Amino acid sequence: MGFLGDRVRMSRIITITSGKGGVGKTTSTINLGAALNKFGKDVIILDANLTTPNVSLHLGAPIVPVNLNHVMLGKAKIHEAIYEHESGMKIIPSSLSVRELKEIDNNKLKTIGKKLRKFADYIIYDSAAGLGEEAIVAMECADEIVIVTNPEIPAVADALKTAKVAEQLKKDVLGVIVTRVRGTKTEMPIDNISDMLELPILGVVPEDERVQEALIKKDAVLHIHPKSEVARAYKQIAAKIAGINYIEKLSILQKIFNW
Ligand SMILES: Nc1ncnc2c1ncn2[C@@H]1O[C@H](COP(=O)(O)OP(=O)(O)O)[C@@H](O)[C@H]1O
Ligand SMILES: [Mg+2]
Repeated sequence: MGFLGDRVRMSRIITITSGKGGVGKTTSTINLGAALNKFGKDVIILDANLTTPNVSLHLGAPIVPVNLNHVMLGKAKIHEAIYEHESGMKIIPSSLSVRELKEIDNNKLKTIGKKLRKFADYIIYDSAAGLGEEAIVAMECADEIVIVTNPEIPAVADALKTAKVAEQLKKDVLGVIVTRVRGTKTEMPIDNISDMLELPILGVVPEDERVQEALIKKDAVLHIHPKSEVARAYKQIAAKIAGINYIEKLSILQKIFNW
């Protein structure tokens, strides 16, 4: 696998996926988006999790006049479904209404991806978990895939299946984000996760209740607690993906605190 930064492309569609549900995909999508945005990139986050959309729950504005479902049904144009978050990153929310799910052809996501390229440097698809049709289509849409897991055997075993399918689809998997890491003895060591998945680890994100606080405040942790370890982890992952040389400068107080 060629590594990351040397790939210069006009726009990149990156799908954030996982085997197991609830591992931290939406959180990772939003904070990676926020980090890339901080690095001066134009970012669109697309809620490709059509059956159980979450992006707008995480970022506010759950009810918008035009959403992805309208575009998928041919009732609106994609640029009408792009909303700007106060941070500057853009989001394309999906509908929370089950009614609007009917008649949707997941494959439309592919044409939508193509149309989005001219609007941003990074288009990040927040996928559904698992290997259902929705998740597969989100992978098919991607130039590159990032797999999210927790450091537990069931999550990593499911991540392995996702990695295998990505390989079958001939998709480039950039690597793995291991999140909600508490550092307990019962967790799988990071090296073992990398060995089992045969993929590089893009970053390790600690368990931190400020992630839930951010959810309540409808914003990225990166905006609410920019100095937190979670924020730093996502900035480092974003820097790796974008091929940016990024070293966080810590104040003396932070160094003492971390120590
Ligand atoms: N690093 C973290 N520390 C603490 N809680 C987290 C962390 N990452 C995610 N969570 C929480 O875990 C739950 C699932 O996260 P989410 O991003 O919605 O996962 P997914 O999109 O994979 O279903 C949410 O309640 C979220 O706030
Ligand atoms: Mg989600």
